Amino acid sequence: MKIAPSVLNAPYHHLEQTFKALDHAFMIHLDIMDGHFVPNLSFGSHIAKDMSTMTQLPLDVHLMVTHPIQHIPAFAELAPQYITVHVEAKDVDKSLDMIKGSNIGAGISLKPGTPIETIFPYIDKVDLVLIMTVEPGFGGQAFMTEMLHKVRQLKSYQEKHHFIIEVDGGVNDETLRLCEEAGVDVAVVGSHLFKQKDIRTWLKNAQ
Ligand code: DX5
Ligand code: ZN
Repeated sequence: MKIAPSVLNAPYHHLEQTFKALDHAFMIHLDIMDGHFVPNLSFGSHIAKDMSTMTQLPLDVHLMVTHPIQHIPAFAELAPQYITVHVEAKDVDKSLDMIKGSNIGAGISLKPGTPIETIFPYIDKVDLVLIMTVEPGFGGQAFMTEMLHKVRQLKSYQEKHHFIIEVDGGVNDETLRLCEEAGVDVAVVGSHLFKQKDIRTWLKNAQ
């Protein structure tokens, strides 16, 4: 399983050292929150830019914001691998066009309460589907196993349309196995990873 560490709950007092320990990851997941789409704030493009200088790995930007079109240009400047917007956000179609127009992989995400069918109109446009396995906004929550049903539903579409399936929230050793069985391509791991004594070894073994 490919792992995308979420640095939302990383130790920020020695971030450079933390990024070094992530060198076996598939990509780095950056959670951007506006305090409106979700009831929490994280960090913006300026901090994300500084983070990008601490790693050679591709960046996976997850925009949990109400108005993605206001934020996409600043994140596009960092040339991430993917920028993901929520299907519940404003101007989804325009946002995906903006991302693709910048030659960046476009992702679509959905909250646990949002049916999988809502993303179908965008399936031709996207390179990544991010299934939220917790309510977005905070790290450290419990994995919602029933969300794997969405993964199984999506699997059959992967033959015809080219996108990867990523899950986000509550992934630990046990739920990682369930994700693998369901056919997830990439798992975002936050708090569980930063609880490890040896982050690098855990990442090596998980992949
Ligand atoms: C939640 C974020 C996740 C989260 C993952 O809104 O999108 O990326 O921080 O953290 P854990 O693994 O702690 O659930
Ligand atoms: Zn995320």
